[in-house]
Amino acid sequence: MLLKDMKKFFPGKGPREAADFEKLPAHVAIIMDGNGRWAKKHKLSVSKGHRQGTETLREIIRHTDDLGIGSLSLYAFSTENWKRSPEEVAALMQLILDFFRSEIDELDAKNVRIRIMGDKGGLPEKQRDTLIEAERRTEKNTGLNLNIAVNYGSRAEIVLAAKEIALLVKNGELQLNAITEQTVSDHLYTRGQPDVDLMIRTSGEMRLSNFMLYQNAYAEFTFPAVLWPDFTVEAYDQALATFAHRQRRFGARL
Ligand code: IPE
Ligand code: IPE
Ligand code: MG
Repeated sequence: MLLKDMKKFFPGKGPREAADFEKLPAHVAIIMDGNGRWAKKHKLSVSKGHRQGTETLREIIRHTDDLGIGSLSLYAFSTENWKRSPEEVAALMQLILDFFRSEIDELDAKNVRIRIMGDKGGLPEKQRDTLIEAERRTEKNTGLNLNIAVNYGSRAEIVLAAKEIALLVKNGELQLNAITEQTVSDHLYTRGQPDVDLMIRTSGEMRLSNFMLYQNAYAEFTFPAVLWPDFTVEAYDQALATFAHRQRRFGARL
């Protein structure tokens, strides 16, 4: 049932309860793309584009939480984004700090559990400390799993998992034959969470750009044409409705 129909049929329900009637994804991943083009379109600096993007981010996290979706993974900064100008990288790093400082109280109050995907060791000290503190502060929370990818690359994540597993085998703590797909999943940043059901990339680009290659094996994809700062809760609902209509087969003949 579509979200709008659901509201019609169950007007008394809040979004969280209403979501019980909906074919919602358990895990949504979003590649938040298009801040640069948005800035250009509005004749603003690229950092203004990124700042506007954080407004969208707030709304989307809030809506995901309201719907009762279990996991939300967001691509904020890739290992390849260091290739951008020092000014742009600095602006993005500042935004990461500002975002966590301004949102952490509300997120914690809403029982959101924050996890950072990516190499925190490669970040400036202030950013690293702030991210570690956000994870620590919310580690006992049991609500929405909010995974934020900062200095993240999926291949690097898989390499890290391979090294961790190899070490277990080397130390005699794991038999080679006991390694399964689940073992690999258990060594990714998203360990303990389901695979991605719905992947959304804004701005019309249709590629993964090194985001969650393993977790996306059977994800459904949508590519809304809007730039990330223009992405709305309505557009998000539309992507969720599209997902609800998709027939997933996982290789079987239905
Ligand atoms: C996505 O917006 C945000 C980050 C990569 C941090 P872009 O900055 O990639 O926006 P476009 O692709 O240039 O429009
Ligand atoms: C992916 O977007 C990274 C983030 C959204 C953080 P990019 O804009 O960096 O990806 P490419 O370069 O277009 O593939
Ligand atoms: Mg881009």
